[in-house]
Amino acid sequence: MKLLITGGAGFIGSHIADHYHAKSHEVFVLDNLASGHRENIPFIDEDHFFEVDVCDTEKVTDIIKLHQFDVVIHLAAVVSVVDTVNQPVKSNKVNIDATLNLLETNREHNPQLKKFVFASSAAVYGNNPQLPKTTQSIVQPESPYAVQKYAGEQYTKMYHHLYDLPTTALRFFNIYGPKQDPNSQYSGVISIMKRKFDNDETFTFFGDGEQTRDFVYVKDLVNAIALVVENSETNGEVLNVGTGNQTSLKDIFSAFESSYQKTVDYQFEPARKGDVKHSVADVTPLKEIGYEPQYTINTGLEEYLNS
Ligand SMILES: NC(=O)c1ccc[n+]([C@@H]2O[C@H](COP(=O)([O-])OP(=O)(O)OC[C@H]3O[C@@H](n4cnc5c(N)ncnc54)[C@H](O)[C@@H]3O)[C@@H](O)[C@H]2O)c1
Repeated sequence: MKLLITGGAGFIGSHIADHYHAKSHEVFVLDNLASGHRENIPFIDEDHFFEVDVCDTEKVTDIIKLHQFDVVIHLAAVVSVVDTVNQPVKSNKVNIDATLNLLETNREHNPQLKKFVFASSAAVYGNNPQLPKTTQSIVQPESPYAVQKYAGEQYTKMYHHLYDLPTTALRFFNIYGPKQDPNSQYSGVISIMKRKFDNDETFTFFGDGEQTRDFVYVKDLVNAIALVVENSETNGEVLNVGTGNQTSLKDIFSAFESSYQKTVDYQFEPARKGDVKHSVADVTPLKEIGYEPQYTINTGLEEYLNS
């Protein structure tokens, strides 16, 4: 298969690229390296790497026309909620306009496309307290990021219903694993905790630490995507990718203590505005197509911390 992964030099994209490359598929990556790193994908040669902004309609169209990909996995995005708050118009161009353009370009110029996957986010649920979150739950986007992800997934879905493009949108919950960038305050909490334990620095709980999340080891996410890519019944669907299990930040901290055989100082600060207290995915629809998470939070952390 010939695949295009936008945002493929980032944390999640580099794992997906690795998966398909290892299976001898032809993997192309399009990334402007805004938050990704070329070193994440050393196995992708220069002929398969486009250092291109996904907003560059002309270049993106030329690439799609020329290569006629079987599969497009669209991950390129402004991923920081804070960046979207600070730059709602600019981030809208990347997160919505470029997504729409990519769909349209595939509709017009790539008749043999087998699957288009869009990376949406559990952020679309916002503060809706209903648990578990199902794709029938009411969405309550609380940031430009969440609005943009919601728009992107709805366009993705609509392109199937209107134009029969084989699309699926996936709402990722909290993904963690090797290559996740810990350098922003707003990165995944597990990568931040790892940095604190590596450097003996103080960890800050925003809130009481009892808040829970559905943490997904990146390899389980890759397996979910691989299943969806092969499954045409998911065309036109929006699906959650979680594990169905809730873990509190305090429990994650304890797991770090056990793994590192030490502790670090910690402090509490008020919960951040808009932070949800509990989050867990209903993954029944994904399980119906054969998804079964292979990692518990403990085995995932163990592999991550020893990687
Ligand atoms: N990590 C998570 O827990 C999580 C949760 C929900 C959704 N997501 C979504 O998954 C996708 C991948 O996220 P990630 O965690 O790997 O983040 P990441 O920052 O590591 O990856 C994003 C990639 O997109 C690239 N990119 C950004 N703007 C671009 C542009 N204009 N043109 C081309 N490339 C551009 C970046 O350089 C980077 O390589 C994103 O769409 C994100 O919103 C991630």
